Formats: sequence, C-alpha cells, structure tokens
Amino acid sequence: MTQEDAFLDRDCVFHGRLAPQYARREGRQSDVSALNFSQRQGDLRERMEDPEADPEWMRNSYAQFRHVNRLVSSWRSLYRRHLRPHMARQGPTTLLDIGFGGGDVVAGLASWARRDGLHLEITAIDSDGRAFAWTKGRQWPANLTFRHARAEDLLAAGERFDWVTSNHVLHHLEDDSWDGFLDVSRRLGKRVLHCDLVRSRRAYILFRCFVAPFFRHSFIAEDGLLSVRRSYTLQEMHQRVPEVWDVRPVFPFHQLLSHPADGTAF
Ligand SMILES: C[S@@+](CC[C@H](N)C(=O)[O-])C[C@H]1O[C@@H](n2cnc3c(N)ncnc32)[C@H](O)[C@@H]1O
Repeated sequence: MTQEDAFLDRDCVFHGRLAPQYARREGRQSDVSALNFSQRQGDLRERMEDPEADPEWMRNSYAQFRHVNRLVSSWRSLYRRHLRPHMARQGPTTLLDIGFGGGDVVAGLASWARRDGLHLEITAIDSDGRAFAWTKGRQWPANLTFRHARAEDLLAAGERFDWVTSNHVLHHLEDDSWDGFLDVSRRLGKRVLHCDLVRSRRAYILFRCFVAPFFRHSFIAEDGLLSVRRSYTLQEMHQRVPEVWDVRPVFPFHQLLSHPADGTAF
C-alpha cells in the first residue's frame, strides 16, 4: 500500500463515524486494506440488481443518482467536447442512451442541447422496469422519451440512431454479454460513447470517504463502492475491447469507450 493509500485509509475511520449505519452494513468490506483491487470483482452483485430490493430505497437511489453524477460524472464536458460540435454540423440528431437509471444524465443532455438551439431527440432505455416506473409522473424535457427495453430489442426492430451512449453500465455486464453489448451498440449507432468507472483503490477510498457518507436511505453508497470493484482498469479495458474501439481516461476516475476508433467520435 502506498503512503497516500495509508493516509486515505486512516481517513476512512472518520467516514465510519460519520455513517456508522453504513459502515455496519458494509461489514467485512470496511477494512479497505484487505480488499483486492488488482483484479476485477465481476461476481459481486449490487443491491439495486436485486429484484426484491426495498422499493423505497430503490426510488431514493434513482433520485440521488443526479447528485452522484454531478459529483463524479463528466457528461457536461463530454457533451461540449464530443456531442455538441457534431450536432452543430449535422442538424437534427437522434441519440439512444442505454441504462438511464434515474434519467438525470439524459435529462442533462436533452436540456443542454435545447439551450444551445440544437435539435436533439433522445430515446432512453433501461432493462429494469423499476427505473422506467420511476420516470412516470415526473417532469422531463420534451425531447426525451423513456422506454422499458433492451438494446437488442431496438436493434431487432430496425431502429437506428446517430449516437449511442451509456454511463456506468459497462461494469454491470456479465462476461458472456460483453461482446454482444458492444456489438449491438455499435450497430445501433453511427457513433458510440460508453463512459464508466476505472477501478482503483484510490477511487474507492475517495468515494467512501467523501461521497458515500452523504447518501442515506438508498443503495448509492454501497452500490457505488461495489461498482468501483466491478469496474475495469484502463489496461484491462484496452485488452478487452476490439481495436475498432478507442479507450481513453476521463477525469475523475472514469474511462470513455468510443466507436469508431478513428477519432470521428471526437
Ligand atoms: C448504475 S445504473 C446507471 C444509471 C445511469 N446511466 C447513471 O449513470 O446514473 C445502471 C443501469 O443500467 C441498467 N442496465 C444494465 N444493463 C443493461 C442493459 N443491458 N440494457 C439496458 N439497461 C441496462 C440497469 O438497469 C441500471 O438502471
């Protein structure tokens, strides 16, 4: 363990005091130095993946995603750097987001495009009916449509989009659905951007100390930590994806997979 990790580890005692109910729930995971970050922990399951998960905590988690994403995701800058320049040249643009969760990332994209005077129509899908139910009865930008569907269904129905995006979905994929997911997203969209976490002890400790304590009565804290452990390092991602995909780091502790890898998604 590096000196910096040891320092951050000590800091987590502070976190334990801040959120004792969370530290208890996390049980054996509370000793960060005992966790193995050299290998992806793909067999871990997140609480939100449990069909029996507490419905109120599920709704709280969907509601709190927007705060987490504001802190750790960089879609505002991804929009500015990658999507907006293309859309400005291209005219009316369609975008499919896979795994919308709480819908906040796609709502952001829809609003930013509208504010910039760009014609963007977004279809957002999630394979979990609870995510779809959460969107009902809430106010969303008019250029955003939610559907309870899987990407494969849209491909089979012949639907196609200018862009396909996802955020924090890749680490959920099972080994046997990984290639299929990339292939389907590539066939659905002319350009694809998949953004996900990068696994590291430092990311885990920082999330645990400075983000997790603020999220109560939801699965955000616990699932966030599990997500880091399930994610890929940049090197693993490079090895995992075919050469038609570009992989690059995104601040903070994220990586962006884009297709085509010839740079036209940038
Ligand atoms: C961690 S959440 C991320 C939600 C949102 N994109 C965000 O960044 O806040 C992952 C979501 O992806 C959905 N999901 C996972 N695999 C999927 C798949 N193959 N197709 C569609 N949705 C999927 C899950 O149901 C879940 O709602």
